[in-house]
Amino acid sequence: MSASLGIDFGTSHTAAALRRPDGRVESVLFDGSPLLPSAVYAGDDGQVLVGRDARDAARTDPSRFEPHPKRRVDDGTVLLGESEIAVGDLFTAVLARVRSESERVLGAAPADVVLTHPAAWGPTRRLVLQDAARAAGFANPALLPEPVAAAAYYVAELGHQVPVGSAVVVHDFGGGTFDASVVRRTETGFEVLAVDGIDDLGGVDIDNAVIGHLRHLGDDDQWQRLLTPRTAAERRQWRGFHDDVREAKERLSRQSTAELFIPVLDREVHLTRDELETLTRPLLARAPKVVEAVIRTSGLPDEAIAGIFLVGGASRMPLVATLIHRELGRPATVIDRLEQVVAHGALLAAQAPGPVPVQAPAPIPAQTPAPVPGQAPPVAAPMPAYAPQPYQPSPRTPPPPPPQSPTRPAPERAGMPAPLWVAAALMGIQALIWLWVLAIGPVRFWGVSALPLLAAIPLLRVRRPWALVACAVLQVLGALFITVRLYHSVSMS
Ligand SMILES: Nc1ncnc2c1ncn2[C@@H]1O[C@H](COP(=O)(O)OP(=O)(O)OP(=O)(O)O)[C@@H](O)[C@H]1O
Ligand SMILES: [Mg+2]
Repeated sequence: MSASLGIDFGTSHTAAALRRPDGRVESVLFDGSPLLPSAVYAGDDGQVLVGRDARDAARTDPSRFEPHPKRRVDDGTVLLGESEIAVGDLFTAVLARVRSESERVLGAAPADVVLTHPAAWGPTRRLVLQDAARAAGFANPALLPEPVAAAAYYVAELGHQVPVGSAVVVHDFGGGTFDASVVRRTETGFEVLAVDGIDDLGGVDIDNAVIGHLRHLGDDDQWQRLLTPRTAAERRQWRGFHDDVREAKERLSRQSTAELFIPVLDREVHLTRDELETLTRPLLARAPKVVEAVIRTSGLPDEAIAGIFLVGGASRMPLVATLIHRELGRPATVIDRLEQVVAHGALLAAQAPGPVPVQAPAPIPAQTPAPVPGQAPPVAAPMPAYAPQPYQPSPRTPPPPPPQSPTRPAPERAGMPAPLWVAAALMGIQALIWLWVLAIGPVRFWGVSALPLLAAIPLLRVRRPWALVACAVLQVLGALFITVRLYHSVSMS
């Protein structure tokens, strides 16, 4: 077996997993940590620093610092200090660091490299990433949607049962965005049935909400100095404050209080988890709605959803899982190493059928090399077998045209499950009872006898088929009871 590398290039962090030729899988460590901050810093000597080095350098000159290059994917170039740098070059700097660390561990270049990307990314964004990987020295980088990698991990590493035809919902709440996807298991691997997300809902936005909340302390001038620094000392304060806010927020997922020092105000504030939850609830409450929407869009019946898998560091906020449970009526799976799921899953999904019980389609093949001047532009990359099918266009990224892959199985249409037929039949019986009352009962009883029927309307919102049947049985019993009483009183009078 040859060595392979899975890379999850994230907004806040980049994680990588390595499979050695003997089959052992491990996380690549960067300065001793499995997470490399995706941050970059453009030095005045033209060198681009990455990770912790970039964060440290930013304390002297934040104008040369970009903490989240992935968020700039559509921008083409970014102004750092006086230099305008292509976004692709920033990606390349991060990926080159991953390459050098993995080669150092392995002693050679990995034979296969799989890079993950958000499922909603279209061909243009995917090419920025793939070209950057090639420029970083990966000869033949393949691409894989992040939720497919997460689904492979859910099945192969965590051992959850997802039968062919069923799906796992991947709820990825990372640093930059929130993404929800329904990933169905097929005979050959996984396919993304529906995907949507919120571009301005990530850990960074929670940090900004905390800063906004603190602004009632001190006056506008002081906050102006902190948030739009002019001198080197103010810039240093600004970066340090941002880091402190993020760390305080993260602590509040583990404990109920955290202290935070606000430099220009020279004041320490006491934050509580309750306060954070009150503050962020309106933001977080948007996520379950998106999850519900992708489940409905996927067209799968409720019982075909095998589970909801929370990934991304911001899913550690306890309120995230609570809201999912409360709004969707099902618990979510959340594990400790949330940030490493996608990189490890990329290896599992791309793995040829073997000991791991996941068969995945081959990742997107590498693009043809750069076009030769004067020749026709290269044909667009072939779409993967797991590309979105009944994809609902999200306003933030136009979806690629539906792929026409002869190998992909035709989409399964979900028929109406048996319990729903039973419930419908019971409702029909109830309607007949009502018609009978109309025929025999005096006018004053009509409204009363229609009550059970009206009460059936809210039932249309019940999403568990057998619960619906149970309610329908109660309805029929109620209707019968009222009818018998009516009949009795009519015959008495
Ligand atoms: N204990 C915690 N509580 C709250 N938030 C946390 C915690 N741990 C990490 N985070 C947040 O998770 C975010 C980073 O998550 P992650 O590394 O999964 O994102 P990413 O993959 O870089 O981003 P994306 O997937 O959006 O591109 C940061 O905003 C970080 O503050
Ligand atoms: Mg991520």
